[in-house]
Amino acid sequence: MNQSDPFIGLVVENRFEVVSFVGRGGMAVVYKAQHRQVDRTVAIKFLQKSYADQGVNLERFKREAKLVNSLFHPNIINMYSFGILDTGEPYLVLDYIDGVSLSERIQATGRLPQEQAANIFKQVCDGVGYAHENGILHRDLKPSNVMLLASETGKDHVKILDFGIAKLLPEVEDNVQQLTQAGEIFGSPLYMSPEQCQGEELDARSDVYAMGCMMYEALAGQVPLLGKNVLATMAKHIAELPPRFANLGIEISPRLEQIVFRALQKDRGQRFQTMPELAAELSLVAV
Ligand SMILES: Nc1ncnc2c1ncn2[C@@H]1O[C@H](COP(=O)(O)OP(=O)(O)O)[C@@H](O)[C@H]1O
Ligand SMILES: [Mg+2]
Repeated sequence: MNQSDPFIGLVVENRFEVVSFVGRGGMAVVYKAQHRQVDRTVAIKFLQKSYADQGVNLERFKREAKLVNSLFHPNIINMYSFGILDTGEPYLVLDYIDGVSLSERIQATGRLPQEQAANIFKQVCDGVGYAHENGILHRDLKPSNVMLLASETGKDHVKILDFGIAKLLPEVEDNVQQLTQAGEIFGSPLYMSPEQCQGEELDARSDVYAMGCMMYEALAGQVPLLGKNVLATMAKHIAELPPRFANLGIEISPRLEQIVFRALQKDRGQRFQTMPELAAELSLVAV
């Protein structure tokens, strides 16, 4: 245990005692915590205080967190509570997920078998589709936000993390320059739709595009579009198509490839228009 870590030992809301460090992302740091009265392990996600210092609208944070807190779905991580520490850090108390993230799975195995990938993404569609029905976009779908739990059947059970979290952060002027200055705040450019790269309004189909990027990565073992830097990657999302699987020497069912490339259409009108539409196609591949 790191003695110099100010979060270790901290008791949040008089009930959650922070016990160990879990991981760090672009905008937050995650710890494992133990409920003092009941036998429950939770994860507490502390958003970086610097965002609060930069004038995060705390009212807005609370409003948005409340909205995300109202989502109940088997494929969406459960949120117990949220608030702001006396020291200024906004935080979320979440189910602790004892599993691996999709990004870890891809790193460990390279490519995922088609049926396994279809099974995972079908569940991601279900969770995200439910949120869409409730007026909430994910906005930051990427493999590190998809956790995989082992189920009794031996198949992966999906829990989606960080719903709407991108919206909990301060609004940044919608232009490319600002996006790059903001760095990781806006999530990874590797999964960003052309419309997001161009600072346009996002909708459900922007999450469909991010699904396309994740499916491509899971099946190919590499991200669809990668530039030398953030701007170059974004430029590719706006104008370039990823290589066909055959060009990477990967054999894949033509049907599944069609699904992935349709989700990756530049023009959102050409993509699957809803998550259930994409899920229905994936069901035909998933076993
Ligand atoms: N509820 C949770 N349970 C277990 N691990 C979590 C939970 N939330 C986040 N993590 C892990 O903590 C790390 C940091 O999370 P996060 O700040 O969301 O970073 P990222 O930008 O990589 O998604 C990730 O590796 C993620 O797997
Ligand atoms: Mg995350």
